[in-house]
Amino acid sequence: MSNPMIHPNVSDALRAKVAERTLATIARLRQAAAEFQPVGFASSMGAEDMLLIDIIQRHAIDIEIFTLDTGRLPAETYDLMAKAETHYGMRPVTWFPRHEAVEEYVRKHGINAFYRSVELRKACCGMRKVEPLKRALAGKKAWITGMRAQQSTTRADLPLREFDETHGIEKFNPLSDWTEREVWVYIQTEGVPYNVLHEQFFPSIGCQPCTRAISPGEDIRAGRWWWENADSKECGLHVKDG
Ligand code: ADX
Ligand code: SF4
Repeated sequence: MSNPMIHPNVSDALRAKVAERTLATIARLRQAAAEFQPVGFASSMGAEDMLLIDIIQRHAIDIEIFTLDTGRLPAETYDLMAKAETHYGMRPVTWFPRHEAVEEYVRKHGINAFYRSVELRKACCGMRKVEPLKRALAGKKAWITGMRAQQSTTRADLPLREFDETHGIEKFNPLSDWTEREVWVYIQTEGVPYNVLHEQFFPSIGCQPCTRAISPGEDIRAGRWWWENADSKECGLHVKDG
């Protein structure tokens, strides 16, 4: 069954809306790059992030694209990284976890310990994503994410820009006001490469063991850490209290 969300019917009104949003987003990214240097864009290679990579590359905006490779990403995400490299002639700056931390955690708790408790899950996200993000942002004056307000209740008030107290730098969320449908209209119209897992009803893709497909009508992030309560489902990359 093909996924209608990622192959939307496009009315003239929707096309015009996406064109308007695209212009606004180009301006937001240019503004971030003009005001803050160096500035980094954190890309998980999800649909929203591919849209931003497309804009940054197409308009040659001076923003470093980086990615946090947790070591547990789905094979399809690595395939997309390779595809994006060919498509854009661009390779994101990759950050890996500290191997000593991973060795210690796995020796002590086991390879898939994150299923056992929220604490062990957060500790895994801490060493595989949060700590590498700190290193990725060291020396940066601002950073950019691909988050949207509509992705979850925890993101409903997501501003276009904010001061990130945890990292002590400005943070931009230039897709905050986009809808999922608008993102896909852009991707399909512009021929942006995307993760094949999106075809299989994975709207939100993180690590392979912590991501599953969703059923029609389910929340966009229902497939992330699906065994936990909705209010604990953030990995720590975007917490406000650090
Ligand atoms: S999260 O809970 O994993 O943070 P989500 O997958 O919705 O949530 O990603 C939100 C944003 O966080 C992405 O648009 C991207 O900016 C950043 N992000 C998430 N995972 C990564 C990653 N592995 N590498 C770089 N950036 C990431
Ligand atoms: Fe670990 Fe899962 Fe978090 Fe990835 S999403 S860092 S595997 S707990």
